Amino acid sequence: MNKLLLLFLTTASSLVNVTSFILPGLYYPVAIARDVARKPLPVLLQDTRLVIFRNGTNHVVTHSDVCPHQGALFSGTGSVDAGGTLICGYHGFHFCNGRFLGMPGAMTKRPRGFQLPLWETAEKHGMVFVRAPGHDGIRRHVHAAPEAEDGRFRCIRGARIVQQHHQVVTENVLDMMHISYVHKAFGNRVSPLPTEVKYEAMGDFAGKSSFCYRPRPGSLASLLDPPFPEVLVENEFFLPGTTVTRVSVAGFVKTVVTRALPINDGATKLFWEVHRNFFTDGVGLGDAVMHNLMEQTLDEDVHILRHVDARHREGPLQTKYDVTIKKYRQAVEHWMATTAGHFLTET
Ligand code: FES
Ligand SMILES: [Fe+2]
Repeated sequence: MNKLLLLFLTTASSLVNVTSFILPGLYYPVAIARDVARKPLPVLLQDTRLVIFRNGTNHVVTHSDVCPHQGALFSGTGSVDAGGTLICGYHGFHFCNGRFLGMPGAMTKRPRGFQLPLWETAEKHGMVFVRAPGHDGIRRHVHAAPEAEDGRFRCIRGARIVQQHHQVVTENVLDMMHISYVHKAFGNRVSPLPTEVKYEAMGDFAGKSSFCYRPRPGSLASLLDPPFPEVLVENEFFLPGTTVTRVSVAGFVKTVVTRALPINDGATKLFWEVHRNFFTDGVGLGDAVMHNLMEQTLDEDVHILRHVDARHREGPLQTKYDVTIKKYRQAVEHWMATTAGHFLTET
């Protein structure tokens, strides 16, 4: 078949915007749960300074990191005592779950008055998620891959800062063509094009592509007896920036979940989980191997992402293999249109 037939030449402008604000009402990942303790941790979410820490009942609290007295950062100067009271390091003002309790030597018995707006905070699936106050009408939950609840799977996780806009980072994970072309360990640069591409919408805010690719000669799949000619990939997205990539061959399943935290227009923190149902004995070695492979994969993606011009990422040469990215962009636009953009300000 003439490969050119697969191209859709577009006449529209090739400039694509990236959103400079977060999608209203949705939860964003901010930390791996095990990393959150009493110590106040800074989080930048689309340039908004937040602080997260565990309070006296071990719940995670999220509010502005900026002290409402003279602007000191709680995360840089402050501490949380055993009862969960946050104490600013500049003049010692005390706060409990965002409520002002008083100053050293002048504590109020019944604190009233000043309250830092709290961000809704959910601890789920080994992660901490937050969403901006004021979106009670919109109910959306965080997505977990079924593998996260399946005892046959083992999970490792980590995070990486990528110097690129979060939409571009998420789109990279939804880019079926680059898998074979960019990733040396499991790709196939000689014959990278996916086959049997199918896309299926999963409501207004999620979608799924499935496709096959031919493993590289010498890869695990090609060494199986009988050799597996094709690897099945399922690639899903869930707004605002969660992806699930499930790779299956001969009953072995490796599922990568990524969640993008927009730091600002030029930086993203990408949280990742890898679930596997093989190499689960001697977990230390298996974990180390999978960790290494994931870091190598991220290195390869980060190298490309550093050199993508976000405005031109929908050029006139679009192919059917770009379908998941396209649907993700449409879902973002649809969400923005139905909820109206909510520009973040310091809270
Ligand atoms: S700046 Fe925080 S107590 Fe003064
Ligand atoms: Fe990749």
